[in-house]
Amino acid sequence: MTTQFYDNTKIPQLGLGTWQLTGEVGYQATKDALEIGYRHIDTAHIYGNHGEVGEAIKDSGLDRSELFITSKLWLDEMSEEDVKPALLRALKELQIDYIDLYIIHWPNQTVPVKSTLAALASLKKEGLTKHFGVSNFTINHLKNTLKITQEIDTNQVEFHPSLNQKELLEFCNLNKIKLTAYSPIGHGKDLDIPLIIEMAKEYNKTPAQICINWCLQKGLVTIPKASSRTRLQENFDAQLFTLSPQDIVLIDDLNLNNRYINPSFAEFEY
Ligand SMILES: NC(=O)c1ccc[n+]([C@@H]2O[C@H](COP(=O)([O-])OP(=O)(O)OC[C@H]3O[C@@H](n4cnc5c(N)ncnc54)[C@H](OP(=O)(O)O)[C@@H]3O)[C@@H](O)[C@H]2O)c1
Repeated sequence: MTTQFYDNTKIPQLGLGTWQLTGEVGYQATKDALEIGYRHIDTAHIYGNHGEVGEAIKDSGLDRSELFITSKLWLDEMSEEDVKPALLRALKELQIDYIDLYIIHWPNQTVPVKSTLAALASLKKEGLTKHFGVSNFTINHLKNTLKITQEIDTNQVEFHPSLNQKELLEFCNLNKIKLTAYSPIGHGKDLDIPLIIEMAKEYNKTPAQICINWCLQKGLVTIPKASSRTRLQENFDAQLFTLSPQDIVLIDDLNLNNRYINPSFAEFEY
């Protein structure tokens, strides 16, 4: 399945999340995912796995043009002069010469976002990144960035049945910012929701497939993480069925504002 950013760039809607996929497991999971058919990989400097991900990409033998690769800029490298060296290092580690999407990993009040965005815009002009975006931004953060640039292609945020980010999604849609759903199965914790289990039985699918399909059908870029080839395949196959509109609404109603990713430096109250 593909979706597109608002500038019409087509991107593979389902990607492999690679947080906590390091070392041999990280290499093998990325390699398996590419063999299964994933063409979109989400990584970040802070995940410490650019090397493994890059090796797996190289060993897959796939042409660079077939792949959509995202990485993220960490908090301590957001000053204007630090952004380009951070991206050049990421490219070297990943063994590629451009990235498809470079993301400000978290909002960071200690650095003016205007200067980080200026650096990203100039990297885009140079062709070192095709797109740039943000992550974990609230509506207020987005309002600030929209005063500076209209070039934000995505806001990558936690999104799963028990955290459906209704207002943020509406705001992103209205402002042509594609929402990317991270932790689409709630970091594994939404798989126990009784309605999700019931629907899995009804559709002859697994709870993970129900959660992922719900995100996909809502039009979101969706990046589940899994370690084993079986789960990677299961998650990839979540693209192969269609939840009914009524069932999508039933899942929409499961929201409990359960935020599982909330580090001390997050600015969700902003
Ligand atoms: N921008 C950000 O700040 C941010 C924050 C969090 C995550 N992310 C991105 O989003 C990706 C996904 O989020 P996530 O890793 O937090 O959570 P997730 O994808 O919602 O869930 C991953 C967990 O679910 C398990 N799992 C995966 N597929 C399964 C299946 N079919 N059946 C049963 N269990 C399954 C995994 O176990 P195994 O690994 O053992 O298979 C793992 O414990 C990350 O890898 C990262 O790329 C971004």
